[in-house]
Amino acid sequence: MNSIQKELVKSTVPILKTNGNALISYFYQRMLTNSPELKNIFNMANQASGKQHNALTGAVLAYAENIDDPSVLINTLKSIGNKHVSLNITPEQYDIVGTHLINSIIEVLGADANSDLIEAWTCAYNELASIMIGIEAAMYEKNSQKKGGWKGWRSFKIAKIVSESAEINSFYLKPADEKEIADFFPGQYISVSTYIPELGHKQPRQYSLSSNSNNEFYRISVKKETGQANPDGIVSNALHNKKVGDELEVSAPAGLFYADPESKNPLVLLSGGVGLTPMMSMVETNKNALQQNPTIWIHSCRNENVHAFKDTIEELNNEKTWLKSYVFYETLPDTQTNAFEGRIDLQQIKEDILIKDAKYYICGPAIFIKVQYQSLVGLGVDRENILYEEFGPQLLSLN
Ligand SMILES: Cc1cc2nc3c(=O)[nH]c(=O)nc-3n(C[C@H](O)[C@H](O)[C@H](O)COP(=O)(O)OP(=O)(O)OC[C@H]3O[C@@H](n4cnc5c(N)ncnc54)[C@H](O)[C@@H]3O)c2cc1C
Ligand code: HEM
Repeated sequence: MNSIQKELVKSTVPILKTNGNALISYFYQRMLTNSPELKNIFNMANQASGKQHNALTGAVLAYAENIDDPSVLINTLKSIGNKHVSLNITPEQYDIVGTHLINSIIEVLGADANSDLIEAWTCAYNELASIMIGIEAAMYEKNSQKKGGWKGWRSFKIAKIVSESAEINSFYLKPADEKEIADFFPGQYISVSTYIPELGHKQPRQYSLSSNSNNEFYRISVKKETGQANPDGIVSNALHNKKVGDELEVSAPAGLFYADPESKNPLVLLSGGVGLTPMMSMVETNKNALQQNPTIWIHSCRNENVHAFKDTIEELNNEKTWLKSYVFYETLPDTQTNAFEGRIDLQQIKEDILIKDAKYYICGPAIFIKVQYQSLVGLGVDRENILYEEFGPQLLSLN
């Protein structure tokens, strides 16, 4: 790509800022109408809510802005690559996306198909696609080489279902081929795909692994999403209707939000609602490790009834000196409790959480992540020691 083409791509940044979302909405509609088989891998609720449009618009914009040195985007590209690999995205699909994206630019922005601008964008897309295909190829290779690893989708059987709270069930998944499974870092997720009769196609979703890595099963813990004003959650409700013995398609563990079990850094975990699942894996891993890292876990949820793993965490907290757990309920129970009332207030417990060399992990709704992140930074925590995970398209940009 030459410097004139780079300037042309950069010159479209203001148009992308104002019209990017309209362009991307049009692109998705064009692509999913022409290639309906892709509905099996795109999260149709993220399409309806527009969250995936925002994620892709943000990525395209960031790429256009950094066209002179895309290497500054490497962490973002790796994070997207993890999600793509967990959905088994292939190089051939990059051609489909490219064709629809370029045609959408022509059709929505009214650009001439033979113009220098379209040529510049075609080059830019191809360069980005080739970087991403490279990143993803390395991940696929690593997954296939790994002991118990695999590429793409693999059938797993539901071996056990355990109710963890009024709305969260754990599913213990074992491979249908009864062969080995790959290990994972605590905090990583898998994608799970299942056929949805009402839609007439499959739907995938990501779920954090909620236990320590073991060679027997993967455990996920799923909140049954009731829609209130919106429709009920498609996949979580389908999963809550599944029975022991039912099969699901599962992709290999992925994700960059994890606690390295080799590291000795103290852990400070902040979770909201079902955002406690990756933390559960971190705590179980720590429990089974030779040396336990000091861990402070601050969890908040609506009330005791929806507090998953409550007894397990309480027991660990009472038995283990390395763990200190704080719980915040919006509504306290009538019975005796150690929980605080209301939302998490880090000021109240700052002496406990400001620990030298600690790594801070936040998971929960976007607004929860934002508030906790800002509180930590306000208390003087270094941004580079804070990691967070959104349970949906990664839209926050806090670091
Ligand atoms: C990395 C990662 C890890 C995750 N880990 C977990 C986990 O451990 N446990 C867990 O329970 N979840 C987890 N999730 C979330 C999970 O992937 C699903 O998003 C969740 O189960 C909801 O899926 P669903 O199909 O039930 O809901 P969906 O059908 O996807 O709906 C999601 C929400 O959108 C609303 N909605 C539906 N249609 C519309 C519309 N037209 N307009 C506006 N809103 C609409 C629904 O009411 C619902 O509240 C994780 C997500 C990620 C990305
Ligand atoms: C240069 C090209 C591409 C860019 C810039 C891009 C960007 C993104 C981004 C930013 C996300 C959100 C990531 C996250 O939230 O963690 C995403 C998710 C996704 N991408 Fe891509 N992508 C590209 C190519 C592709 C291709 C070729 C496919 C295959 C058809 C694809 C399919 C998906 C799917 C299925 C998701 C998850 C969607 C969801 O959960 O709603 N992407 N991509």
